[in-house]
Amino acid sequence: MTTNSQPRDWLAWHDDYDRAGTPLAVRLAVVQSHVRQALDAAPPGTIRVVSICAGQGRDLVEVVATHERRDDVSAVLVEADERNVLSATRRISELGLDRGIRPILGDASVTDRYVGHTPAHLVLACGIFGNIGEDDIHNTIRHLPSFCSTGATVLWTRHRRPPDLTPTVRRWFGDAGFEEIAFAGLTHLPYIGVGAVRWPGANGALPTGTRLFNSLG
Ligand SMILES: C[S@@+](CC[C@H](N)C(=O)[O-])C[C@H]1O[C@@H](n2cnc3c(N)ncnc32)[C@H](O)[C@@H]1O
Repeated sequence: MTTNSQPRDWLAWHDDYDRAGTPLAVRLAVVQSHVRQALDAAPPGTIRVVSICAGQGRDLVEVVATHERRDDVSAVLVEADERNVLSATRRISELGLDRGIRPILGDASVTDRYVGHTPAHLVLACGIFGNIGEDDIHNTIRHLPSFCSTGATVLWTRHRRPPDLTPTVRRWFGDAGFEEIAFAGLTHLPYIGVGAVRWPGANGALPTGTRLFNSLG
């Protein structure tokens, strides 16, 4: 997790979420609207959610708090920075969601972290694809079906700075068997590329000991 040998400050990374009109704040609103739609469409019963590299979990937590299915949500937020885990834990507690949303401090890049939490109805892979190599993005996408229940939604993000990789990412999702629900690519905000895809296949079987990606840079 380094950039030019300086460790990336993943706590400070979230600050723009609180600055109205920043690309990150716009992106958050787009992701949250897809989270809401996924919860709206979820089948009766427990709604399993997995967030990979969850950060402070803002995309999920704030939506669940006001959603009529809030008591059905069973989510794990896997995050490596303990400051973000603490922030998420505090907010989850403030909102009375402790029973349904569990932050886990750990490495989200290995499938073992998700054992017992899949197949999920909603998988969040946000803030990852802009920070890992192309091979790792492709590898992660190839493994995402194993996280999904039939009809699951996967949300992903990737900036659109040249060379814009989002067309390739969308193709890789298609190659892996996903159907695109929506893609928001706002060209005037090159930070923004938000994709939503649906898994139409059978419930996935999560392998153990499988690496999705190397460290985020
Ligand atoms: C760009 S932020 C995205 C956070 C969140 N998904 C969002 O979109 O708001 C990337 C997050 O991944 C976390 N991270 C980096 N490497 C990780 C790893 N191997 N396992 C779990 N989390 C990791 C960072 O601490 C950071 O909070």
